[in-house]
Amino acid sequence: MVIEKLSKKGKAVESDPLVPDGLHPDPKKLLKKESINLDILRQLKGQSVLSVKQFDKELVCELCKFAALLEATEIGNRHPLDGKIVITAFFEASTRTRLSFESAVLRLDGKVISIPEGQSTGVAKGESLSDIGEMFNAYGDLVVMRHTETAAVEEVMKNLRIPLVNAGNGSGEHPTQALADWFAILKWKPRLKENRARKQDKIHLGILGTPGSMRAVKSFLQMSLLFRENIHCISIVSELANPLGEELAQELDESGVDFQITSDINEVISDLDVIYMNSIAFLGDSYKSLDSRFKLNQDSELKEDAVVLHPLARLDELDPNLDGTHHNLYFTQAHGAVFMRQALFISILNRFDRLGSGNGALDLNSET
Ligand code: CP
Repeated sequence: MVIEKLSKKGKAVESDPLVPDGLHPDPKKLLKKESINLDILRQLKGQSVLSVKQFDKELVCELCKFAALLEATEIGNRHPLDGKIVITAFFEASTRTRLSFESAVLRLDGKVISIPEGQSTGVAKGESLSDIGEMFNAYGDLVVMRHTETAAVEEVMKNLRIPLVNAGNGSGEHPTQALADWFAILKWKPRLKENRARKQDKIHLGILGTPGSMRAVKSFLQMSLLFRENIHCISIVSELANPLGEELAQELDESGVDFQITSDINEVISDLDVIYMNSIAFLGDSYKSLDSRFKLNQDSELKEDAVVLHPLARLDELDPNLDGTHHNLYFTQAHGAVFMRQALFISILNRFDRLGSGNGALDLNSET
């Protein structure tokens, strides 16, 4: 049964019980009339993904196009990861990241072995992460790791000889989250991948949080700077006078993008095209009550076509009453992460040949 919901401004949003609420742009819009350049994707062959700094705009766009192709095409029957074992090692809690990585592997017919919780490993007996890294080499073909400590990536890499994908390290980085974020944005507005979009397509980006110390916000901001030609302003909403820290402040300065810092989202909300929300209520180990300066709901003065992203989990900064509206791009963002992670696995493990060629096969070089 199709149920129609009304958004705040009266725009009907069609709802299907099999599809989550919100806006779900067609991934084929991202592929239109464009082929996927496998030479660019092959840069990732055998590589670890540790930081947003490893990516240029060209590589991000090709990954997004490849992810769109994977979303639009049934390829499980081609068994692209057949014979490969991925280790998911999570030393910090996760809902989306671990499950979406594991779903990505299983849907490509690979196998997963998992550490869902650090205390189930030799860490509980005092084992070092570098020793655990040596073991990973023997048990899998690629490791996806999340850790509470920023230095954990460096530590595990000491003995690791198979590729590592950083799924979030302390206050460091969350590079594959940023890829999933931009995959959602480019599906929504494919023109943003052009070198110089039309004036009316350039966006005012609002970011809620502390990029200097929150890994998802930091990675998103750094990846956004790759698209700087199509961003006319970035507004950072934070209580702190300097939420960027020295390094990011310098990167923003050098990017040439206009930016401002405000302590009230309501001061800028009516001009924002893309709003990147975050759970800023957790500061260290404590929960902080947020006031309306840091919250969004259906009564917020959102622009008619504005979209909202959130890496989730959310607290009360993002009201569920926005879920059923066309502003909700955050469910697309979370669901699309599976295809972005598939694109990374196929590229890193160089399994393009499994996608086939010739009659009846998937043609990666033509539009679907
Ligand atoms: N987006 C994200 O990192 O979510 P999880 O903490 O649930 O993995």
